Amino acid sequence: MDLGIEGRWAVVCAASKGLGKGCARALAREGVNLVINARGAEALEATAQELRQLNPAIEVRSVAGDVGQPDVRAALLAACPQVDILINNAGGPPPGDFRDWQREDWLRALELNMLTPIELIKATVDGMAERGFGRVVNITSSAVKAPIDILGLSNGARSGLTGFVAGLARQPRLAGRNVTINALLPGSFDTDRLRSTLGDDPETAAAESIKAIPAGRFGTPEEFGAFCAFICSAHAGYLTGQNLLLDGGAYPGAY
Ligand SMILES: NC(=O)c1ccc[n+]([C@@H]2O[C@H](COP(=O)([O-])OP(=O)(O)OC[C@H]3O[C@@H](n4cnc5c(N)ncnc54)[C@H](OP(=O)(O)O)[C@@H]3O)[C@@H](O)[C@H]2O)c1
Repeated sequence: MDLGIEGRWAVVCAASKGLGKGCARALAREGVNLVINARGAEALEATAQELRQLNPAIEVRSVAGDVGQPDVRAALLAACPQVDILINNAGGPPPGDFRDWQREDWLRALELNMLTPIELIKATVDGMAERGFGRVVNITSSAVKAPIDILGLSNGARSGLTGFVAGLARQPRLAGRNVTINALLPGSFDTDRLRSTLGDDPETAAAESIKAIPAGRFGTPEEFGAFCAFICSAHAGYLTGQNLLLDGGAYPGAY
């Protein structure tokens, strides 16, 4: 299937590794020009090179820095001639017990995982609406649907983003102009972040957590990216305001 987005421009935040990189690779395959971001400049440049090799016909620009910082967001937007596709992503807040978190910990989580995507959406959606095409994908977490006790900062900040976007996506001046805003909710995907949570005996811990996944495995960044690319496609204009769970069947509810 031709996704119909060749020649478009996308900003993909937090894309040197993991899920963000999976999305960037899938968009690159479809001929989408990219502005990618991550804090570590070396890994970011290596990914930019990889993307250029994957599709020599596209332009790939990189902006190193913390996407939670306003100057980095401004540089990302300035590097993109026009933002047709925006993939909001960043590292997740640390786990812990809410009794140990101070106000600053909450503010940091809200800043990175709620207000940063909202700022980027604010800077881009009206231009998308004027041009009659726009796709925003927020990478959140399955914890939005089934909160995980120790991930309270993530549960809270991402739910705030989810609630805000549910209202925004339904504005006729966006939905009626072919601008969609959806979230992808990853369950367990095989990335550096997931591996870093597996402790001293990662193979045993991985086997244990896979038992709770009906698909019998972790997801891959490639399949996550392919799904993301479809949501960004010309064919997905009637899908907006949705929270799409990709978790191999781990969430037990029907809805
Ligand atoms: N993997 C899963 O199973 C899973 C499940 C649920 C939710 N999630 C969420 O999905 C998101 C991506 O996770 P992942 O598994 O792909 O993680 P990952 O493999 O650790 O990759 C994270 C990427 O984001 C970049 N990054 C992190 N913080 C950043 C920041 N402040 N500004 C710019 N770039 C930043 C990292 O590069 P630098 O470190 O160089 O900046 C890296 O490129 C996270 O929010 C995570 O909580 C993941």
